[in-house]
Amino acid sequence: MGKRLCIIGLGKMGSTLVKGLVQSGTLESDKIIGTDIFVNDVEKNPDFCNITTMNNNAKAVELSDIVLLAVKPQIINKVLEEIRTLCDGKIVISIAAGITLGHLEKALPTSCRIIRAMPNTPVLVREGVIAICSGKNVTEEDLTIVKGILESVGTVFVVEEEMMDTITALSGSGPAYVYIMIEALSDGGVLMGLPRALSTELAARTLVGAAKMVLESGKHPGELKDMVTSPGGTAIRGIENLESHGIRGILMDAVKEATKRARELNSQRGV
Ligand SMILES: NC(=O)c1ccc[n+]([C@@H]2O[C@H](COP(=O)([O-])OP(=O)(O)OC[C@H]3O[C@@H](n4cnc5c(N)ncnc54)[C@H](OP(=O)(O)O)[C@@H]3O)[C@@H](O)[C@H]2O)c1
Repeated sequence: MGKRLCIIGLGKMGSTLVKGLVQSGTLESDKIIGTDIFVNDVEKNPDFCNITTMNNNAKAVELSDIVLLAVKPQIINKVLEEIRTLCDGKIVISIAAGITLGHLEKALPTSCRIIRAMPNTPVLVREGVIAICSGKNVTEEDLTIVKGILESVGTVFVVEEEMMDTITALSGSGPAYVYIMIEALSDGGVLMGLPRALSTELAARTLVGAAKMVLESGKHPGELKDMVTSPGGTAIRGIENLESHGIRGILMDAVKEATKRARELNSQRGV
């Protein structure tokens, strides 16, 4: 891709994207500009894979074809105000949680091609899932370019914007639910006498392996569950316990309640 990308905000997400893009060979460092309030204006920054860094958002946008907004939602309006007149005709990607396409379209020139993205924290280890939805002027070619950028840190799904709150509740917040499962399974192992480190690693690797089985076998999770349960055996005894405590309802409710919370937060922000 010959285009130049600027990433505004080099915090957790912004710096992860820089590393993902450069290390995967998706973009060379000289095609990326990163801005943040703490970096110097202007230098090649070895901390960020030798991309050019600056603290001047407007200048970075002026020099770029694609703009990726990776600042907190609370300061997105301030940044949009700084860059709006310089975004004419450019692709603008926002990963700010809860900031809608409508909000971005109101704040930016009508010629902008805007894409909203919802990543999750496993992008930090380049195993994220990232849902994206497109605004009015976005072309198939734009989508391909943006997918290429985001695929450097995970798997990208193109969705309708109305799904974003539920996606925030499922894959966005989901790592937190899974950490609780890993911690609790590890506690169970420790309760029954396993050393903590071994127990945690067994739990985490069991989740990774089981997830890969779902993705790679194409089998229904119920069928894979049946393959682990022999008549009168240990797994079915464990499952009886999970079911009698309502494990399915608990997980479904977590997604339902988190979706409601995402909607509440959006209405409080007025987006
Ligand atoms: N982390 C996640 O799990 C996650 C998941 C989904 C979506 N997101 C979204 O990703 C975005 C970034 O999140 P993050 O976790 O990477 O946040 P973060 O670590 O706080 O990164 C944001 C960076 O932007 C900098 N910044 C503040 N004001 C700026 C300005 N005017 N111009 C340029 N940079 C500025 C911040 O500097 P200071 O720290 O000095 O203020 C910080 O380094 C957020 O909108 C969030 O909703 C995050």
